[in-house]
Amino acid sequence: MGPGPSNVAPSVLEAMSRGLVGHLDPVFVKMMEEIKAMLRQVFLTTNEMTFPVSGTGSAGMEFCCANLLEPGDEAVIGINGVFGARMAEVAERCGAKVTRVETPWGRIIEPQQIADALRKVSRPKLVAIVHAETSTGALTPVEAISNLAHDAGALFLLDTVTSLAGCPVRIDEWQVDAVYSGTQKCLSCPPGLAPVSLSPRALDAATRRKSKVQSWYLDVNLLAAYWGQDRVYHHTAPISMNYALHEALRLVLDEDLEHRWRRHEQNHLALKAGLKALGLPIASQEGHQLWQLNAVTVPDGIDEAAVRKRLLAEFNIEVGAGLGPLKGKIWRVGLMGETSSKANVNAFLSALAQILNDSGRKSDLAAALEAAA
Ligand SMILES: Cc1ncc(COP(=O)(O)O)c(C=O)c1O
Repeated sequence: MGPGPSNVAPSVLEAMSRGLVGHLDPVFVKMMEEIKAMLRQVFLTTNEMTFPVSGTGSAGMEFCCANLLEPGDEAVIGINGVFGARMAEVAERCGAKVTRVETPWGRIIEPQQIADALRKVSRPKLVAIVHAETSTGALTPVEAISNLAHDAGALFLLDTVTSLAGCPVRIDEWQVDAVYSGTQKCLSCPPGLAPVSLSPRALDAATRRKSKVQSWYLDVNLLAAYWGQDRVYHHTAPISMNYALHEALRLVLDEDLEHRWRRHEQNHLALKAGLKALGLPIASQEGHQLWQLNAVTVPDGIDEAAVRKRLLAEFNIEVGAGLGPLKGKIWRVGLMGETSSKANVNAFLSALAQILNDSGRKSDLAAALEAAA
C-alpha cells in the first residue's frame, strides 16, 4: 500500500516466468502489436506511436523530453512535487530553457499560473505537467492547461505514471501531444516499462528536429523502426517484462477501464471516510485528491516513521513516507491497481487504529470501519 510498486496479479507473475522467445520472433512481434493496441485503449488514443519504452517511468519522462526538446527550446513546467521538479531537471539536461511554475506541495497547478508564465516566454516549445503527483496526492485538471499550451503554439506533455488506469486519462479528448506512464502503479505490473504515446504533431516535431536526439537509446526515430512495421533491431526488448505488461493490460481491459476507475474512487472514498472517523484528514487539496494515492495527515505527537515501521513489521503493510516539505507530515497510502480493495482499506484502518491506540491516541476502530463501509 505504498506509492508503487503495487500488488501484481498471479497471472502477471506467471506470464513473466514463461519461456523466452527472441525479440524478432513472430510470436513476440504479434505480442508487440497487441500491447500497442491495448495501450491505445488504456490511454484512450488513436496515436500510432504508442508503445512501451524499455525502462521505468523516468525513462518515459526522458524519452518525451529528449525527443521534443532541442538545445535552446523554451519549456514551461508545472512543479507541485517531486516529479514536476524531476521533469524540469530532465528538460534542462536536454538543453531547454525552463520556466518553472511552482505551487505549494499538495496543491494543483492552476491554469492561470501557466497562462501567466506563457506570457513571459517568447516561443514556448513545450508545456508540461504531472497529472497525478505521487509525492503529494494531488490531481491537476488537464484540459484548460492543454488549451493554453496549444493557444501559445506549444506541445503539451503529461506525466500519467500514477494516474493511468486508476482514474480518467483521455489522451485524444484532452489533446495531449506526449504522454508517459509506468507499469508499477495502477497497471499493476512490475516496474520496468514506460508506456508512451506521441500525437502526430509531436512525432512531426521529433522527426523534423535540427539536431539529433542526444540519447541514442531513446530516439523515437530509431525506436519507430523496431516498434513500427520495419522490425529493425534497435535494442533487445525486455521480453519477460513485455509478457507481464501484455497480461496486465489484458486484465485492465477485462475489468473495463471505467469500472476500474470507479473501483479506485470507491476505495479512496471508503478510506477517506474511515480516516475522517479517526480524525485524520487527507492532506492534499480538497476536490483534487487522488484516488490511488492518499496523503494521510500524521497527527500531532505521533512519530511518523515509528508508525510506518510497525505497520510493516507487525501487519505486513507498507506505506510511503512524505517527501520534501511533507517529510514527517504525511503517510502516503497507495490504493493502486490490484492493491485498491475494500479488504486493504479495512486492514489498513484496523492496523493504524491499533497502533495509534497503543501510542496513546484514542482511535475508534468500529466507527472507522463503519464509516468506510
Ligand atoms: C508521477 C511520477 N512520475 C514519474 C515517476 C518516475 O517513475 P520511476 O520511478 O518508475 O522511474 C514516478 C515514480 O514514482 C511518479 O510517481
